[in-house]
Amino acid sequence: MKLPQLNRLELEIIDKTIAVLTFNIPEKLNALGADAHEDLHSFVDLLQREPAVRVGVIRSAVKKAFMAGTDITGFSEAPFPPNRLREAIDRIENCPKPVIAAIGGYCLGGGVELAMGCDIRILADTATLALPEVGLGIMPGAGGIQRLARVAGMGVAKELALTARRISAEEAYAKGLAAMVVPFDALWDETLKLARRVAAQAPAALALVKQSANLALDTDRATAAAFERWGAAFISTTADAAEGKRAFIEKRPPVFTGA
Ligand code: COA
Repeated sequence: MKLPQLNRLELEIIDKTIAVLTFNIPEKLNALGADAHEDLHSFVDLLQREPAVRVGVIRSAVKKAFMAGTDITGFSEAPFPPNRLREAIDRIENCPKPVIAAIGGYCLGGGVELAMGCDIRILADTATLALPEVGLGIMPGAGGIQRLARVAGMGVAKELALTARRISAEEAYAKGLAAMVVPFDALWDETLKLARRVAAQAPAALALVKQSANLALDTDRATAAAFERWGAAFISTTADAAEGKRAFIEKRPPVFTGA
């Protein structure tokens, strides 16, 4: 599989099915500038293009931070609001492959906005989350307020965005911002376990579940329910649905092809 050439971030494929994007800019605690925003687009391009890739993971190689937000020193080269970051998060949210965010250390501003656009968030116990923008005289501009409101409720979104308050992993989990909290040393193993579990499911079913879940919040209930009914009827006709049933009867793990 041919991987795109990235500017600042690192991309690798694990198990031939998991695309892992790693932030590794320790001198800026992974504050992302315009070049890294383009790398996020290259990551989504790969997810969309490669049928063998079943799931994406975004993580950090810097212990102290997942992402310290947008690169404040680079505002002149990547004007604020960071439209390319917003577009990349929109694309992650709408891409047919699930994307997992593995978060340890500081996750600030655009880091929270990106995490909220991912499908599953796993936090290390070292994670600290905040939307610090109002303290800089600006505001979140990459869809973070709407996504946080959808993930954790309007009260939580307003309180965090209006106060710039930092919250711990434990509080973030209690507020519904993440699926689980694990010790920092277990973050990668638990993330990989989760990614492997998702990657083993039927790809077309994953895509339809993700779209159905997005529609549950993006449109009225009747429309979302109609899509879900159509999706469930369609998916039951696929070769992977037949394989799932066969594997159950034969008491073996299914081998899904995406067909
Ligand atoms: N943009 C650019 N550089 C950043 C950055 C950002 N968002 N966040 C951190 N850095 C840089 C710092 O300038 C510093 O660089 P230097 O060593 O050349 O001075 C380096 O990363 C380490 O950060 P430092 O502030 O020294 O570490 P700390 O442990 O004292 O504090 C933070 C860590 C994350 C709390 C602090 O750096 C911070 O508040 N960053 C800004 C976060 C933010 O507001 N993000 C939203 C932007 S829209």
